[in-house]
Amino acid sequence: MTDLAVLGAGSAGYAAALRASQLGLDVTLVDPGPLGGTCLHVGCIPTKAWLQSAKVRRTVLHAGAFGIGGGTGDVDAAAIRSHADDVVDQLHRGLSGLVSASGVRHVAAAGRLVGGTVVEAGGERIEAAAVLVATGAEPVTLGLPVDGERIITSEHALRLDALPRRAVVLGGGVIGVEFASLWADLGVEVVIVEALDRLLPSEEPALSKVLTRALRSRGVDVRTGAPVAGAEAGDGGVRVTVGHEQLEADLLLVAVGRRPRVAGLGLEEVGVELDGAAIATDADLRTSVPHIHAAGDVVAGPQLAHRGYAHGQFVAELVAWELGRSRHRPTLPPDHQIPRVTYSSPQVASVGLREDQAGPGARSVTYHLAGNGKSLIARPTDERETGMVKVVRSAQGPIVGVHAVGEDVAELITSGAMHVGWGAEPDDVVSIVHPHPTVGESLAEAILALGGRPLHMRVATDIG
Ligand code: NAI
Repeated sequence: MTDLAVLGAGSAGYAAALRASQLGLDVTLVDPGPLGGTCLHVGCIPTKAWLQSAKVRRTVLHAGAFGIGGGTGDVDAAAIRSHADDVVDQLHRGLSGLVSASGVRHVAAAGRLVGGTVVEAGGERIEAAAVLVATGAEPVTLGLPVDGERIITSEHALRLDALPRRAVVLGGGVIGVEFASLWADLGVEVVIVEALDRLLPSEEPALSKVLTRALRSRGVDVRTGAPVAGAEAGDGGVRVTVGHEQLEADLLLVAVGRRPRVAGLGLEEVGVELDGAAIATDADLRTSVPHIHAAGDVVAGPQLAHRGYAHGQFVAELVAWELGRSRHRPTLPPDHQIPRVTYSSPQVASVGLREDQAGPGARSVTYHLAGNGKSLIARPTDERETGMVKVVRSAQGPIVGVHAVGEDVAELITSGAMHVGWGAEPDDVVSIVHPHPTVGESLAEAILALGGRPLHMRVATDIG
């Protein structure tokens, strides 16, 4: 008998296992794949390594603008892959060491529920006091004939040994935008096709506008309001149907969302209810079956690794509390307090509510990065700085949203998440000194202005 059986060793699953073992629980972690799941092996980490290589090439090509003799920017896709693999390997070794040192038992097999809180994996029957289902998500393909060569998902895109000359990216969400950006910077001709009226449709519209302009200026053909109807692969490439038009390319990347991975887990058999494609849970991530919990991408909401970590740790603490092994009842961070980052160039980062979601009387200030020293230092002199940070407060109340677009704005969203998470009022933050010059200062500038005391900007002083 184990205290907690975890199905899935991705961000949510392994975080739960580590936290539960810290709390003295006996943990069995079941996953046929390597520890770390999608994010570590075929998601966040290798994608960001590719994005870094793309950034290096863009820097090399712009070196002259910084007074440095430029190189040719030749691209060796296999070497980029190997850089990404090195990073993944190192993190994977670290994680494996951590899991084994923590005493968590890893069963390297696919698991399924076979009744109550009993899991079967690799011919073994694991009886548990509680079960956590954290099996993640997999790409939606819209019935397109994905073959891994001409019509691919992001997982295939990370394994390319040679880059296409021309690519169509289907979907202007996070994955589509990240690949469109990195491929364009590596010299690929890119068309990105989004069904809705703008890229990153769930972000503040102003951020989508800046991003679209930046991608277009680097040669990306951005098509919005353009649903893809079909695609057909042939020997020479792929033909994609967008409205009445046919686009020809070497490959098509399908990035139209990911759906919870729930098939074959025995959920239906033991009575775990679904909510659409996701596992239905209450506010404490409990499923419809007592002592079976769900966490991460299998639960409806933003599919983000750091949400998975938060979910996993929460469930571990909740189970420990329910088993009387901890006196602390945990609280689950709400989805809107979870920061979101698209690591394209420029980056898009946000947390909390958009202005249109913040209720009547909400106010906002937008600080343009054209006034931020660090941003100007980092951009080539022949490019205009068009990034911005927008901070939203509810009517005479706390900061409820931070939205940014620009180089390296991912780094400032951590502060944004603290302000939103703590429900800080602009006046609580204005006395906190931000180092100069940093990109993060732009957040401080916007908050100063929101508190009615702008420094490096001119706004009406009654705004607070
Ligand atoms: P997504 O839901 O972010 O975007 C998919 C886009 O495809 C939507 O904008 C949708 O309108 C569009 N679309 C759907 N059908 C279409 C059609 N027939 N023609 C044209 N456009 C169509 O999904 P995505 O980008 O695949 O990402 C999946 C998940 O992975 C997301 O939840 C995302 O948050 C997560 N992720 C997060 C990353 C990060 O945090 N940096 C990086 C990569 C993925």
